[in-house]
Parts: sequence; structure tokens; C-alpha cells
Amino acid sequence: MTSDTSSDFRAQFERIGAWIEAYYRDPGRYPVLSRAEPGDLIRALPARPPQEGEAFDAILADFERLIVPGITHWNHPRFFAYFAISAAPITVMAEALAAALDANAMAWRTSPAATELEDVTLGWLREMLGLPEAFHGIVYDTASISGFTALAAAREALDLDVRARGLAGRDLPTLRVYITEHTHSHIEKGAIALGIGRENVVKVPCDPDTFAMRPDALARLLDEDRARGMRAMAVTATVGTTSTTSSDPVAAIREITRERGVWLHVDAAYAGPAAILPEFRWLLDGAHGADSIVLNPHKWLFVPVDLSVLYIRHLDLLRRTFSLEAVYLELPDTGVRNYMDYGLQLGRRFRALKLWFAMRTLGVRGMQDALRAHIALAQELAQWVAAEAGWEISAPHPLSVVCFRHVPPGLDDAACDAHNLAIMDAVNATGEAYLSNTRLHGRFVLRIAIGNDRTTRDDVLAVWKLLRDAARQRVLATVTP
Ligand SMILES: Cc1ncc(COP(=O)(O)O)c(C=O)c1O
Repeated sequence: MTSDTSSDFRAQFERIGAWIEAYYRDPGRYPVLSRAEPGDLIRALPARPPQEGEAFDAILADFERLIVPGITHWNHPRFFAYFAISAAPITVMAEALAAALDANAMAWRTSPAATELEDVTLGWLREMLGLPEAFHGIVYDTASISGFTALAAAREALDLDVRARGLAGRDLPTLRVYITEHTHSHIEKGAIALGIGRENVVKVPCDPDTFAMRPDALARLLDEDRARGMRAMAVTATVGTTSTTSSDPVAAIREITRERGVWLHVDAAYAGPAAILPEFRWLLDGAHGADSIVLNPHKWLFVPVDLSVLYIRHLDLLRRTFSLEAVYLELPDTGVRNYMDYGLQLGRRFRALKLWFAMRTLGVRGMQDALRAHIALAQELAQWVAAEAGWEISAPHPLSVVCFRHVPPGLDDAACDAHNLAIMDAVNATGEAYLSNTRLHGRFVLRIAIGNDRTTRDDVLAVWKLLRDAARQRVLATVTP
């Protein structure tokens, strides 16, 4: 029997609730970076599935004994890697409710509230971000899929009848997509999947200090390619790049793409949410005229992975890109949207529920306060780094990420890279903090991202101390015979 409505279910659910509550009270008691070795869990688990159902107690005990040690704790207050995240605890309950309903949000009639709540929450979010109503929002799982979906619509917008006739064996112009070296890799992946070819993903040079796309270089490349008979399919501008959170000059790029009739996609996966702050509204200013914009509430708007939003101006075009009539899915619905027609997926989780819970629980004010706190901590860290002899800031840091490195005298570039890598490894090995890195101008750079609500000033001070101690020990080790 798969459905258990007995009192057991309630008791078990209460135990899970108690486990989560205890976990949330102190996720810092675990090593932030899992200490698991490759294959640990595979060796610990039986090779075959159980023939008979097992008891809840045994499963929960194994969850704690075997699964939790293999978890890197993104909830840990000293998780500073990639883009640190934090889901509002209430969203865990929303996820449980969505799982309980087990509604497939593929079409309006397969759960009208799921479709309509998606419309309502994304309408609220659009207003919070100050985006024009011409944008219609749709939920996907990740920015990678949202971005792919936007690129697919951009290809359809070229009116090359690719939908019916494909790309092969035809006399088509070479299609080009324009990015920078700082654009997230999913755009290139999307171009590969759409048959554009990696060779046709053009990296527009960036300003060396701001890491932002140079509009003059974009205009030149677009014009040169057109003169060679190529066709521009899309330009991707990023608001908040993954490495440094730099932003491409979207307004200038919009002018260039508008003049040339090219689709502009804005990847604001990380930084887009910051536009809910009046003082950061400007982040999306240029994006108002874009064709599509992506942002990830699962990065910086307090919902757990996964929930990404695509705002697109051309909803009919998107529908034309993906919709098919399957005989087993004939839907007499009129005047409603069936979101299975707007992407690759048929089945869709009821993701909007957790966004709704988060928005109602925190309110716009609560979300704004939390983002401001993250940004303020990052700015304070940047001040400490800049003021410390032997350390340097490696990139502008307008938001909640700081890139920096230790530069002891007498090290060449390669040695300095190795030195900073060793510092990072030493800190991460403590289990007390976890940070990641990037490369800027070819150099290895440490990177701290603040996005966790549990992170306090003391936590940031603690990682900063760990870093300085690790740097000091390494310098001592190299000068002591
Ligand atoms: C700027 C940017 N865009 C897109 C992505 C991809 O996000 P997702 O994991 O939701 O596909 C990331 C991931 O960090 C990112 O930083």
C-alpha cells in the first residue's frame, strides 16, 4: 500500500518536522563541506533494492547515518561558495504541500490553481522588480532551462521554419549567438543543443576592469558577421556574472540589438532579485527593452532549489516554438494557458506554491531587508580585504560577492595561483567554512558569496581569519628552512 493515512503517517511527519527544526536551528554543527570520499555511499548501500518494505525508523536512521554525512551544507552559515543561498523555512512546508497534492501543472485543467498561482506570483514579482507588464513570466526548473527556452524562441523568431524543416540539408545562413567570456556556460550549452554549434557562439571582448561587455565591440562583431552573410540569433547580456557579479551595459546593448533586429536575452539569474531594492532598481533598467530575462528565485529570493523564472515579451512566439497537439492530450480549454506548450517539459512541478509562501511570509520588506544585509556584509568584507597588507581586491563588488587574493611579494603568477589555491584548500579542509574560486585575467582568485540568512558578521570575520591564518602559515612554511 502506498498511501498511509494512519496515525503512523502523522507521527512520522512530526518526526521529520522535528528533524528539520533541529537542523535549521544549528546547521553549523556539521562540517560545511562534506568529508565524503568518492564511492562512500555506494559502498555503504546494498547493491539490490529491498524486496520487502522497510520500517520508517530504519530508513530515517540511515538518512542520518549515511546520507547526511554526504551532504555539503548549503544552509551552513559559513557556506560562502558559488552563490550562497537560503530558503525561507516556510518554503519547506510549501514543498511538502506541493508533494502531497502531487499535482502536475502541465495544463490549466490539470490543476487550475497551479497555473493561476504561477501567473499571480510572477505578476507580483514583476512588479517588485519594476519590469513592464509586457513581460509574461513562466516558471522553469533552472536558469539553464529558462535560458535554453529563450534561445529556442529567439531561433523561432528568425522565421527560418526550423520547427518544421530542421537545420540540416538546407541552405541556411550560419546562426550566431553573442556572449562574453563571463557569460554563464548554459548559454553555450543551449546553443549546442539548438544546433547552432560552439563555433558560432561569439565571445565579445570585455572591459578589462569592469568585466562587462564592450558595446562597441559587439556592434563591430555583429556588423562584420552580417557582412559575411551570417545571421545573429541572439545576444546575451548578463546582469550579475557568475565570477564577479559584473553587469553588461544592457541599455547600450539594447540599442545595438534593436537597430539590428537581434533578440536580446538578459541573464539576471543571480543579480536580478536585487532589483527589488529601490537602490538597485537600475540593475534591470536596460533590461526593460529586452526580449527575455531570466532570474532565479532559488538563488536569491528565498525558495529552495529549484525555481527559475523566464520573463518573455513574445508569449505567442514561445508557444509556437514548443506546442504540439498530442492525441492523448486534447484539451478543449480555451482562454487559458497550458504551460506544457511553452517549453520542453510536459510534466511540471507546482513550484509557484513555495514562492507564494515565501512572498507572503517575508513580504517585500522582509526580502529587501535580507538582501540588504547580505550586500552590507559583503561590502564590509571587501573593506577588510582592501585594508589588509598583502591582500588585494580583484574585481568591483557591487553586490554580495567579493573576489580577492593574497599577493605575497616575490611570487610569480603561477606561484601566486598555487598559493591562493592552497589557502582555499586549507580553509575548506577545516570544515568550518567553504569558499570557491574563479579566474580573472587568467589568475586564480578567491571568491566569497554571501547569501545565507544565517550568516552573521561573526561568520564573515571567522572566514576572513581562517584565510589570513592559512596565508600566514603558507608564507611561514616557504621562508622557514
Ligand atoms: C549568471 C548565472 N546564470 C545562470 C546560472 C545557471 O543557473 P541554474 O543552476 O539555475 O541553471 C548561474 C549559476 O550559477 C549563474 O550564475
